[in-house]
Amino acid sequence: MDATRQHFLMCRPTYFAVDYAINPWMDPTAPVDTDLAVRQWERLRQVYRDLGHTVEEITPVPGLPDMVFAANGGTVIDGKAMAVQFRDPQRADEAPAYRAWFEQAGFEMYDPKHVNEGEGDILLAGDHLLAGTGFRTAHASHAQLQEVFGYPVITMQLVDPRFYHLDTALTVLDERTVAYLPEAFSRGSQAVLRRLFPDAVHATMADAEVLGLNAVSDGRHVVLPEQATGLAAKLRERGYQTIGVDLSELRKAGGGPKCCTLRLRQGKASR
Ligand code: ARG
Repeated sequence: MDATRQHFLMCRPTYFAVDYAINPWMDPTAPVDTDLAVRQWERLRQVYRDLGHTVEEITPVPGLPDMVFAANGGTVIDGKAMAVQFRDPQRADEAPAYRAWFEQAGFEMYDPKHVNEGEGDILLAGDHLLAGTGFRTAHASHAQLQEVFGYPVITMQLVDPRFYHLDTALTVLDERTVAYLPEAFSRGSQAVLRRLFPDAVHATMADAEVLGLNAVSDGRHVVLPEQATGLAAKLRERGYQTIGVDLSELRKAGGGPKCCTLRLRQGKASR
């Protein structure tokens, strides 16, 4: 298995907090240790650097506690960047901040016509764009994604509110394979996943409940929450090298390693 050098965008959780609840993981009355969140995030960034990946950073904005979840900042494929439109007003101001970053970085910009939470719901798997809907990203945005990027878009219906973004229920391992929690999807979407990925790794609820599927793979190394021990063992059996990270503070907002990481795909060569 070959590892592909990755180019990532991340946002330091300087202003991380759980001030509101827009998913079932968030409890604004529970304490959050922002310094610990920063240390856990720095460790994730170090893991990427040690793997030879490039990490770009966007400046965090005060008053936007969820901005650390860079995956929701956009969808970037073949040098094109689609900006986002959040479902919830609490995150709305993140969209222009990320948009400005893509623009100064020289990406060809596209603006969303409907709710679209970026790579939280839109995952490139080989030559298909898997697009989640049901909680955040609107189904109507899937047609726009197909027009902009020119990849066939496959709609994935999410049915469990704990797995509200596609990247909490499914992880792309390489060009051919994914890992996912079948129960997080409608029956029809489960059938589509079986058809597209007959060799997929099926995760258990225990692994999904620690956000184990919120993982980042370079085709060979899979960075995932260290608490997801069952999934890690299954991935090693398949020949992947797993690297566990502890993002327990960020999990209080419903996020893991993938949520903190936006893939920047400059062009076809670095897809
Ligand atoms: N609190 C954030 C929200 O509910 C978490 C986002 C996690 N990001 C992700 N890509 N799943 O929007």
